[in-house]
Amino acid sequence: PPLHTLLNLDEIEAAARTQVSRKCWAYYFSAADDLYSKTYNNTVYRNILLRPRVFVDCTVARTATTLLGHRVGTPLYVSPAAMARLAHPDGEAGIARGIARFGAMQLVSHNASMTPEQIVADAAPGQVFGWQLYVQNTRAKSEAMLARIGKLREHFKCVVLTLDAPVPSKREHDEKAALEAQLIIEASRSQEERDKEKSGGRPGSDSGVGQQLFWGTAADLTWETTLPWLAKHTDLPIVLKGIQTHEDAYLAAQYARKHPGSVKAVILSNHGGRSLDTAPPAVHTLLEIRKYCPEVFDTIEVWVDGGIKRGTDVVKALCLGAKAVGVGRAALWGLGAGGWKGVERTFEILQGEIETCMKLLGAKDISELGPRFINSRMVERD
Ligand code: FNR
Repeated sequence: PPLHTLLNLDEIEAAARTQVSRKCWAYYFSAADDLYSKTYNNTVYRNILLRPRVFVDCTVARTATTLLGHRVGTPLYVSPAAMARLAHPDGEAGIARGIARFGAMQLVSHNASMTPEQIVADAAPGQVFGWQLYVQNTRAKSEAMLARIGKLREHFKCVVLTLDAPVPSKREHDEKAALEAQLIIEASRSQEERDKEKSGGRPGSDSGVGQQLFWGTAADLTWETTLPWLAKHTDLPIVLKGIQTHEDAYLAAQYARKHPGSVKAVILSNHGGRSLDTAPPAVHTLLEIRKYCPEVFDTIEVWVDGGIKRGTDVVKALCLGAKAVGVGRAALWGLGAGGWKGVERTFEILQGEIETCMKLLGAKDISELGPRFINSRMVERD
């Protein structure tokens, strides 16, 4: 269908599903175990109610803000997600092109399907990117990548260290698609060939995309060892992704206070429900931080992602203290639905919904959003 006839993110996802390969769909759609966290991410925002005020002149709604001191047109950003080219040859560069008009930030996955240089090659002036790191067992590989990103500092403004996936999880949609594909090619290959492919424990082509990408990722990261190592190899601000409790948010803020110029933000995330099933959605962690250690919001920026489907979801997260809100699958589905133009359409829809929500809420500027616009009792009770 023509992109302009797609009116919401569910319609974009449905359109993408008809156009991408089975393998791509299974990898993007998949989440851990029974998909409880993924499903809850998608539904939690509807149990938070808005408190609209009247008699406010809201002919315009301004969404420009700063992230880590850099000007962006919107608090909406693209979360790091692997393998955009599975969906469309435009890939991660297409995501960059699609969001340029909105001045949105893009976080590029460690497992991107294009090089960092290719992704930023046609970036708009002032377009802001971050690079996401999965620390590798062979630290020298990570150090080389950090050096490479350091050379692209005109574009890459932070290093995002993902912490919520130290070991691979069980993503059955992804695994099943690989096993089914394997049945088709199995007959044509000898046992010897199959054994060779798996030498050294590396997952073979009968494993899902997630398992294959994970190979080589370190599971031994700690507060004491990893952050000092990282500081030695980059002077870009560090964003810790995958924080899921107020305790860890507090530790991040404490670290930031002790080591100025290191950790500048955390991303509350359960990895789109793809890592530990029944881990909490970001909203729960936001509410915990508000309750137990609100000073975190004054020390570091708090970004959130997971399950964003509507502009109202974004506005609610901002009201509860988030400085930025990320979308993972939505950008990939946009790409699948229509290449860079599909990503543009996805952002057009979400950005339009954010502005409409702000106007109907009685907020002229993003800086006015706060807890006074929110009733979160239904979620706090659960
Ligand atoms: C991801 N995510 C992710 N995160 C990360 O830090 N590094 C990565 O390489 C990936 N790869 C990845 C691939 C795919 C296909 C998806 C869907 C997700 C997680 C991502 O950054 C983000 O946390 C979630 O996608 C947010 O949830 P939604 O917006 O997809 O619901």
